[in-house]
Amino acid sequence: MRILLLEEREDFDKILKDTLENTTFFKNREGKKEEKYFINKYLNFIATNRLSGNVFQTLVNEYSSSLIWWKKGMQLVYVKLAISMVFRSLFAQRSLMLSEDFKNYLILGGNHRLRLFYGELKDSIVILKSGENQKFMKNDIAIRTENNLSYAPKIFDSDNDWLREEYFNGIPFNRIESEERKRNLRDVIINNHLEELLLPNLRQIPLTDYIHLIENEMSELITDENITIKKDVLVLIQKVFRILFMKLSSNNVKISWSHGDFQPANILVNNHNYKVIDWEASNKRFYLYDVFTLFSKIRSNISLTKAIENYKNVDKSFDKINKRTEEEIILLLIEELRYHMNEEFSKNFYTAGIKTEKLCYCITTYIYE
Ligand SMILES: Nc1ncnc2c1ncn2[C@@H]1O[C@H](COP(=O)(O)OP(=O)(O)O)[C@@H](O)[C@H]1O
Ligand SMILES: [Mg+2]
Repeated sequence: MRILLLEEREDFDKILKDTLENTTFFKNREGKKEEKYFINKYLNFIATNRLSGNVFQTLVNEYSSSLIWWKKGMQLVYVKLAISMVFRSLFAQRSLMLSEDFKNYLILGGNHRLRLFYGELKDSIVILKSGENQKFMKNDIAIRTENNLSYAPKIFDSDNDWLREEYFNGIPFNRIESEERKRNLRDVIINNHLEELLLPNLRQIPLTDYIHLIENEMSELITDENITIKKDVLVLIQKVFRILFMKLSSNNVKISWSHGDFQPANILVNNHNYKVIDWEASNKRFYLYDVFTLFSKIRSNISLTKAIENYKNVDKSFDKINKRTEEEIILLLIEELRYHMNEEFSKNFYTAGIKTEKLCYCITTYIYE
């Protein structure tokens, strides 16, 4: 997520400093001296102006591949200049003094974690932001070590608040030009995901256990006094969960490990190879949630109703796995609400639950339409 958006919801500079100074990844820090780091909030990076431009390859891949040709050219020029050693400070929106210990790293802002690139780009480091929930590391490490996933970057090394993982040079799935290629690739991606993760971990649990699981998760979040949230938003979320639970008629729910944010921006493609990145939202969920996230395009700023329509209209080849019954849709809505709640209930946020509140209204509109 871009720093431009992150700083609207949290004190980004303070969190950045706290995170780098307190993470166990940099525990053997020596430098007492500070250096100037430049922040580009549109390209989402923090770096000194002496760091080699080669380390920025991932930003070139991500930001200079617009689907509109003239935009692509302009973006490429902008990105190349903004990451260059000569113009980096000029294109930055502000600077910040930090210990010189981080000077060899390109630091990217993320939702709950920072990502660091360095050296020959063999690997990258992910560090949990200070104040963020440990589950964003724990689940990521658990899902990838318990399962042998051919399409997930390998974890080389980890601790409670950081991990070091394989680097993959690719462009985001949504930047692929040919619609046909995208469709074919999408089917391969979903099939592999089903075969390697969703089906091997599939198990059926009683509905009452499923509801308990979610209620426990919710009460843990809402009783945390460090999280700033309006009382009426909490009441609304609980109410919408209750309405959804009441609509379930089956006695069991099929759950499995899931990625949680299985959207095109988190799939990097290089010719016939691809990797799914960004496993921070991993969790045990209704097993079709990732299929829904990818097929419905729900993370691309469309309405909930449109997303559900997209999901229902997916090719018949997937009839075997998703029946798109109303029961299935209700479970997916429960998981969507659960996802946003976990995303947004952070003590780092000035106000938590803004998107979750909106989603609650969309869900009730969808249900009573
Ligand atoms: N394993 C990886 N190899 C190469 N680049 C990566 C890798 N993981 C993430 N990236 C790059 O870093 C960007 C941000 O990482 P991500 O984990 O998706 O964070 P967020 O979505 O919270 O900003 C990605 O969009 C991608 O360009
Ligand atoms: Mg991401």
